[in-house]
Amino acid sequence: MAVVNLSSTHSLLTNWISELRNVEVQTDRMRFRRNLERIGEVFAYEISRQLPWEAAEVATPMGTATAKVLKEQPVLATILRAGLPLHQGLLNYFDKADNAFISAYRKHHRDGTFEISLEYVSCPSLEGRVLIVSDPMLATGASLVKTLQFLKEEGHPSEIHVVAAIACTVGIETVLRNHPSVHIWCGDIDDELTAKGYIVPGLGDAGDLAFGVKVQM
Ligand code: URA
Repeated sequence: MAVVNLSSTHSLLTNWISELRNVEVQTDRMRFRRNLERIGEVFAYEISRQLPWEAAEVATPMGTATAKVLKEQPVLATILRAGLPLHQGLLNYFDKADNAFISAYRKHHRDGTFEISLEYVSCPSLEGRVLIVSDPMLATGASLVKTLQFLKEEGHPSEIHVVAAIACTVGIETVLRNHPSVHIWCGDIDDELTAKGYIVPGLGDAGDLAFGVKVQM
């Protein structure tokens, strides 16, 4: 299971992806954020089905039930700022998870190229933990590759899941070439990428749509 595309079958998630992409619905910033959050919740549920669990005895008012519970809490990591709503959705469901935040941004050059700059990082111990990294748009894969490289130097996660609302084929290939053991979960997959690293048809700039247009630094 290297890559899962949740749009390969229709569901509520495919409805929400279509709203994310829709220029008319995009004018409602709160709905845009909430749709990313709901998609994060679906990813959390789907990933949870793959995670190690253990049996636990639970006292009910009527007796004792044998339940299946998560064996350990994952670490949820996201890339600021666009990743925040998707991260919140994952955290709504993995509500006891630890969290990591990374600021990775595209530093644009005059010739149109860009490099990924990693600045602020806040991270718990990752040793032996399940790590779930969310990025709404897996475009070139450059920021994810750099983020994963950094996080792996911080500890040795037992498994790594990458979550993207929309991913681009070339970005998926780049991540898997650099980090072959990673599992990638996508809300949908597009084939085209512009020279500036935007996914086509994609949805535009996820950070700007969620939080407002930024000035270019
Ligand atoms: N980041 C975005 O917000 N959109 C893209 O299409 C690519 C990267």
